[in-house]
Amino acid sequence: MKTIQLLSLVLIAGWMFACNAPKGELDELDKKVEELLGQMTLEEKVGQMNQYNGFYDVTGPAPSAGDAKNKYDHIKKGWVGSMLNVRGAKNVREMQSLAVDSSRLGIPMIFGFDVIHGHKTLSPIPLAESASWDLEAIEKSARIAAIEASAEGLNWTFAPMVDISRDARWGRVMEGAGEDTYLGTRIGVARVKGFQGDDLSANNTIAACAKHFAAYGFAEGGRDYNTVDVGTATLYNVVFPPFKAAIEEADVKTFMNSFNIVNGIPATGNSFLMRDILKGEWGFEGYVISDWSSGEEMIDHGFARDTAHVAQLAAIAGSDMDMESYAYVKYLAKHVREGRVAESVVDEAARRILKVKFELGLFDDPYKYCDEAREKELIYHQDHMDAALDMAKKSIVLLKNENNTLPLSKEQKKIAVIGTLAKDKDSPLGNWRMAGEDNTAVSVLEGLEKYTSNIKYAEGVKLVTGPTAFPIELEVNETDRSGFKEAIRLAKKSEVVIMVLGEHGLHSGEARSRANIDLPGLQQELLEEVYKVNQNIILVLTNGRPLAITWADEHLRAIVEAWQLGTQAGNAIAEVLFGDYNPSGKLPMTFPRHVGQVPMYYNYFNTGRPGPDGELFYPHYMDESHLPLYAFGYGLSYSSFEYSDLKVQVVDKENVSVEVMVKNTSSVDGEEVVQLYIRDRVASIVRPVKELKGFDKINLKAGEAQSVSFKLSKKELGFYNGNGEFLLEPGDFDVMIGGSSDKVLTASFVLN
Ligand code: GLC
Repeated sequence: MKTIQLLSLVLIAGWMFACNAPKGELDELDKKVEELLGQMTLEEKVGQMNQYNGFYDVTGPAPSAGDAKNKYDHIKKGWVGSMLNVRGAKNVREMQSLAVDSSRLGIPMIFGFDVIHGHKTLSPIPLAESASWDLEAIEKSARIAAIEASAEGLNWTFAPMVDISRDARWGRVMEGAGEDTYLGTRIGVARVKGFQGDDLSANNTIAACAKHFAAYGFAEGGRDYNTVDVGTATLYNVVFPPFKAAIEEADVKTFMNSFNIVNGIPATGNSFLMRDILKGEWGFEGYVISDWSSGEEMIDHGFARDTAHVAQLAAIAGSDMDMESYAYVKYLAKHVREGRVAESVVDEAARRILKVKFELGLFDDPYKYCDEAREKELIYHQDHMDAALDMAKKSIVLLKNENNTLPLSKEQKKIAVIGTLAKDKDSPLGNWRMAGEDNTAVSVLEGLEKYTSNIKYAEGVKLVTGPTAFPIELEVNETDRSGFKEAIRLAKKSEVVIMVLGEHGLHSGEARSRANIDLPGLQQELLEEVYKVNQNIILVLTNGRPLAITWADEHLRAIVEAWQLGTQAGNAIAEVLFGDYNPSGKLPMTFPRHVGQVPMYYNYFNTGRPGPDGELFYPHYMDESHLPLYAFGYGLSYSSFEYSDLKVQVVDKENVSVEVMVKNTSSVDGEEVVQLYIRDRVASIVRPVKELKGFDKINLKAGEAQSVSFKLSKKELGFYNGNGEFLLEPGDFDVMIGGSSDKVLTASFVLN
């Protein structure tokens, strides 16, 4: 009944409102949007800009009770454009029918959810996936996440997070692609393509969301939600590119703005970001949602007087949808009626939101994502498990392997496995697991035991005590050493010790900043005690951020960075330790020696006093090296690779071709990420000592050599100045190629 009513209204009203539509050619979809928009009341248009949280998951400060209880009435009135944290085909169908069957126009809602690294089948945390440098695998990982999320009724994910960050203290580094803009851009595009697929109207694709716009990863002190103060050139050259590419190369349908200020204005009320840059310069046609209560938080920022003022400032600045501030649903219609906000602002926001809903096919079938049979068939599908395992293996980074300690022989006897994280089936799932079910990861111990029965386990030390459920602060064990004795006894009588140390799954993520990036709790002490009785230790790190493991690097023979690898964690780690997979990961973030060096990144500026070491007057510390422990792009393999014959040819004033020979000098087939960096030696603003501008992950059989070539154009060689102008200036350049940012062949060229 409702659909017929809606269609007839659309036909009658169509011609009346085309004149209000944006200028230029209206295509079929735009016409539908205009026809629908034209028959909506002001409250209904404002309603599209209003999102409510379901009762299923709360991912931010609990909403003020007085408002949340009205949500069902508002849905029936057509005053709710979207829900977040409602999932399950049945639940979504029930909630959707409130809007479609009860409201006047039956406009379907869009259901958003944090599908960050997998949905039910969890892939590695995004920072780990980024360590694979395998864009195809990363895109596939997002594709599978979309298949499972859409099977649960969802049609929109608040991902990918494309915030660049150089600060390991910030808990949300686990959620991004690390410190580099080029790598972060490539990965962000791959993730959007994975989520949105080739046909957004299909029932296994979902709208993606480039977040958090912008510069959220530059929070001072690495403290989440803290003040951000970055220069405009850094905005344009470091922060913006992943967002811009998400639009231009992957047609991302939504953006999320951020909690922080940019140039003194909260992102949710920042028209420079959303109107000048995003919708102006970049021509973004989708819609922008606020972050959770980020609108309301403009009051605490000292930018808005009260919630009514929030509604006015955020809407005018271009924040199209309100997540959990309840500002628009309460005040926006009144602002329009009393002339404080032009109705065209509301029309534009509603238009953008409706357009995405049409593109998703929600008007054709509001229940297309609500198929319980499909949900049953697809969740935890074996293909998804297999892909999660593949992604996990590719994400592992071999940091040290003296005297080929690894891989272990499958005949190895007397293996001790020590560490509470070795048996932990929950921490490998990482934070932002949202729909994932707790304790469903394959633990390291379970993975190893599939290979051999020659294993004995000792916990060694508890990592955390007390409850760990979100949003509880973790209580880290700093006193209980009762497990030391058993661990040391076991290590003493073992031939090899695998120590699994690192962070609890909730030691990183949102609101999980750490002032110290050592191994938390008593783990380091345990490691040193075990070392006293057995030096044949293989350290397996499971963590959500770079850790300062300087002692381990100085003393241990083998170190494996295994991050938090998701559902298949233990299987992936075991395959690497026993050599069935040759590790190929490279670090997407610098590992500092000490937290005092942070923020630390490879693409730094030279400064006027670059050194050399040993001088007094150059950027260094009296009490610590100024060099990283492990560099961006670093990662070992069971193979070894040799680079030679770097050749550069200047094609014209904007194009350069580069070629290098890479040889696998070992007896083991392996993969290598060939990385290309440039340096613009003299420019109208200073440029970094090196910047990643290309990479290629290649397979080389034992003894095989391959020529790898790259094309550099204005896009790679140019930069933005402080006015946002993109420039390519003639002059001297260096090009560097290698398997790590700190181990490269260098050649120079001149652009005229
Ligand atoms: C959170 C996060 C954001 C997430 C949103 C919804 O506070 O900042 O990334 O998508 O709220 O859960």
